[in-house]
Amino acid sequence: MDILELSYGGAFSPRQEPGGEKIEQRVTGLEVLLKKAQANLEMGAKAKRDGFGWVGLPEEEPEKVMEAAARLKKYDALVQIGIGGSALGNLMLQNALVHPYYNELTREERGGPRFYVADNADPDGTGAIWEMIDPARTAFVVVSKSGTTAETMANFLLFWNWLRLELKDAAAEHVTVITDPEKGVLRAFAEERGCSSLVIPPGVGGRYSVLSSVGLLSAACQGIDVKALLSGASLMRKRIVASENLEKNPAWLLAALGVAHAESGRNMLVLMPYADNLKDFTEWFAQLWAESLGKQGKGSTPVRALGAIDQHSQVQLYTSGPDDKFYLLASVEERKEMALPHCEESALKPLAYLSGKDMGEMLNAEARATAASLIKAGRPVLWLRIPRIDAFRVGGLIYLFEYATALAGEIMDINPFDQPGVEQGKRYTYGLMGREGFEKDAEEAEEFFQRALARTLVV
Ligand code: PA5
Repeated sequence: MDILELSYGGAFSPRQEPGGEKIEQRVTGLEVLLKKAQANLEMGAKAKRDGFGWVGLPEEEPEKVMEAAARLKKYDALVQIGIGGSALGNLMLQNALVHPYYNELTREERGGPRFYVADNADPDGTGAIWEMIDPARTAFVVVSKSGTTAETMANFLLFWNWLRLELKDAAAEHVTVITDPEKGVLRAFAEERGCSSLVIPPGVGGRYSVLSSVGLLSAACQGIDVKALLSGASLMRKRIVASENLEKNPAWLLAALGVAHAESGRNMLVLMPYADNLKDFTEWFAQLWAESLGKQGKGSTPVRALGAIDQHSQVQLYTSGPDDKFYLLASVEERKEMALPHCEESALKPLAYLSGKDMGEMLNAEARATAASLIKAGRPVLWLRIPRIDAFRVGGLIYLFEYATALAGEIMDINPFDQPGVEQGKRYTYGLMGREGFEKDAEEAEEFFQRALARTLVV
């Protein structure tokens, strides 16, 4: 069965590259490194090295997740508290695989609880979620790998306190914790209060955790076919490990092109699907690519775009602005059929070229038009064709992008599984909020922040 197609004829731009070497030569030259990188990923997974745990997730049985989902499905609403890798995958799966106005459907139409994500620590957002739910009929899933992230903890403290005030001793029955099997505040909390809990498998980092309990629980509650998601990922895994050849291995191709273009100054990667239900995929990918590869002065900036909307916003820049981007355009073959009607008004005669055509066909024509315009302008385009958006394909896409990102890190000689820049920000926040043990971080944060204030314009 085909999961997707990647066409790379337009991915090598004709320009004279700064180092002299053509992108195509550079990409081919990366094959040796890719082979090593793939062996390293597979060995790391086998040896259960920290960070490599996501590699084998498609083969895990999601039994515990399904049991928890069966318990939570009866609620009217589900609020997930988490941020970054503990939220973006959930939003991406909801966007891709359930009705776009899921929360507004009736209970019968939805078949599962309404779904809200409390990720930012913004009182307006958090307060608005509380206003939308009936606590007695709501389940809360709090997700944090570290069990310490300030935004998640702040949201958790608020919801837990409100819940306690409303439901008294019954509050704990409404909370499910997903965190490290041993460490962190949330694990201790679950034990103290006797809440249900699931484990984020050791060795699986936040942004690589969507195919674990982190992403699967809310997906299963919304009726997403979790088994199909995992089997799509599993088949993608088989296809990737089966081929040690750039022309056959989609993860090698994606990683090599991303790295080669970044090295030659195209340090932005634009991901532009022509499908509303892949909009949040670009958000999820942006974290994966940015946080995994942005280290030691290396990396490329992921840019989220959506076709055809960004044709009317960004494509002018993409075709005629600086040649500093590599484009990954995605089209979807099979969509809801929606024929554009013939209308009798003479004023509408100029629109006759649309009549009888399918709206999805038009969107795909627009995708091809953008690819053609970019290629005409000498811009590199990788073309992704997805037969249809279903759980199986989305599973395959997730795994492909995770594997390609990890490979890119390996060939760039950086660790794609850590995030020192994120941890730095977390420590400064702890310090500024007065957490014990972070006094030095508070001082340092203040010192650097004062530099920002050194020149101020009051208007
Ligand atoms: O990918 C990562 O590790 C991070 O972006 C985390 O997902 C994010 O910082 C949230 O961390 P945690 O799940 O520990 O609360």
